[in-house]
Amino acid sequence: MSSFTGNHILSVSQFDRDAIDLVFSVAECMEPYAKRQKRTTVLDGAILGNLFFEPSTRTRVSFGTAFNLLGGEVRETTGMANSALAKGESLYDTARVLSGYSDIIAMRHPAAGSVSEFAEGSRVPVINGGDGANEHPTQALLDLFTIKRELQYNHKSIDGLHIAMIGDLRYGRTVHSLSKLLCLFKNVRFTLISPTELAMPQYILDTIENAGHSLHVTDQLEGNMDADICYQTRIQEERFPSQEEANKYRGKFRLNQSIYTRHFQSKTVIMHPLPRDSRTEANELDNDLNLNPNLAIFRQTDNGVLVRMALFALTLGVENLVSQYEKDVIWYSNKS
Ligand code: NCD
Repeated sequence: MSSFTGNHILSVSQFDRDAIDLVFSVAECMEPYAKRQKRTTVLDGAILGNLFFEPSTRTRVSFGTAFNLLGGEVRETTGMANSALAKGESLYDTARVLSGYSDIIAMRHPAAGSVSEFAEGSRVPVINGGDGANEHPTQALLDLFTIKRELQYNHKSIDGLHIAMIGDLRYGRTVHSLSKLLCLFKNVRFTLISPTELAMPQYILDTIENAGHSLHVTDQLEGNMDADICYQTRIQEERFPSQEEANKYRGKFRLNQSIYTRHFQSKTVIMHPLPRDSRTEANELDNDLNLNPNLAIFRQTDNGVLVRMALFALTLGVENLVSQYEKDVIWYSNKS
């Protein structure tokens, strides 16, 4: 990616290591604003069109929060039924119209490839907030940012990382995008654990192997792994042909403190893109891990704001102006 300004962010395939480093260095600079030690109005007057045609809590709200933290305003559409897409409007027309109302658009949609199709009709940059089972580039960037930070505590780097990905690797777009990004690093070890029917798509396995990384695919948690990261996922029930089909896999790969102790190291970092399915029949990440210091799930969500702020600043070409538009925070704030 030669320049961010004015460009869409549709896939992790657009990124190389330099682009990732740039996003991460801008994200680091966003911390005082996210923590409310300072505020900035660098995007005062700018409008984000936040279009979520599929359920979302943290991605949608953190895109909006990130834009607000830079001083911009957010206009939101949620749900397919409430939009003109339900009246048969094409993605192209919706994009042509809504890009007239915004400076930048973040969008989520249930169909793979839909956000790219939408971007073709848009006159402003479009950021992919998840397109079906395909990609989730901003989640992958915030996951990678989290991995980098967590490993730093253990004096390690992403090169040489051993990651175990668990659960629904077939429909989980976050693991697709994250795997592709990790392929840009050196000597990564992937242990992919899922029911055979929910295995990682072949094209991603090929990408991992063609990039020379080590790959172990299995349908069970085996022995005590020396994984640096354990990345747990939810069964993506909304992508299954029926609920009965999804029910077959719920609860197959639970993680709680005793399973963690049996299969992982005392320093293995536990990640999950969230939401975790906490219903008893699923419970893929038990609450008894909440006090485990290696549970990074809420550090991931906090990091998501920093990374999305960085992507907005870069895409709108203001990354070097953020501190110039800085102000004091005058209300009570206690975010550390
Ligand atoms: C993920 C998604 O929507 O792909 N959630 C998220 O964006 N943080 C994962 C999921 O829903 O299981």
